Amino acid sequence: MEVIICKTYDAMSRAAAEVVAQVLNEKPNAVLGMATGSTPLGLYQELVRMHREESLDFSQVTTFNLDEYVGLPTTHEQSYHYFMHENFFKHVNIPKQNIHIPSGTTSNYRAFCQWYEKRIDECGGIDVQILGIGSDGHIAFNEPGSSLSSRTRLKTLAKQTIDDNARFFDSREQVPVYAITMGVGTIMEARKLLLLANGAKKAEAVAAAVEGPVSSMVTASALQMHEDATVFADDPAASKLKMREYYEWIQAKKPDAPRV
Ligand code: PGA
Repeated sequence: MEVIICKTYDAMSRAAAEVVAQVLNEKPNAVLGMATGSTPLGLYQELVRMHREESLDFSQVTTFNLDEYVGLPTTHEQSYHYFMHENFFKHVNIPKQNIHIPSGTTSNYRAFCQWYEKRIDECGGIDVQILGIGSDGHIAFNEPGSSLSSRTRLKTLAKQTIDDNARFFDSREQVPVYAITMGVGTIMEARKLLLLANGAKKAEAVAAAVEGPVSSMVTASALQMHEDATVFADDPAASKLKMREYYEWIQAKKPDAPRV
């Protein structure tokens, strides 16, 4: 696992966007795994800027979002459909039919989840998956206790997550209790994982994910088992990492490292 510590949120967003752009330059028809929440907003803004100013092309890209709340129509301002459209899709040139977001309003969740998994496979698997991390250590909505082999499914949100996400709703009672989410096993099959974390509120979760034991209690710790996972943290989010100096040393020494 590579750990990249950035001075600011903007620097973190730019560094992660750079990696996504590199993947697209090498593979214009790449399959991108998308995340929602406040964390990736800066990354999306930077990709939109690259699209506008540097002709970064998304015309052959396919996307799969990690998760969606159950019960919110796609027009609801807090639905992840709405979030993705407003913050990213409407600003770039991804063909509509290439965009996949789990349905929060299907009449058959089990069948939908199976279809979603199959669709990822049919598209050749995810090339790069963007991830945030919950303060409880979750990736997507894989709450503590989620199997590290889990697949796309319906999940009950943890109280901590409902508390954390209440800021987006008028009241805590309005936060959906259920979500449909890619599983940890689904996420682990992506060829490249980029996990972003900013702010002191994420410091403990980041330390547990990067340096703690691999455990379903902190589903982000599964990244330790992935062969190409990078964690981007801003200064406050990195503040509880015990090996921080070493990670910074690695980055400082990187330009001189022998080419593999
Ligand atoms: P946030 O959510 O980006 O809004 O902090 C991250 C997450 O819960 O995965």
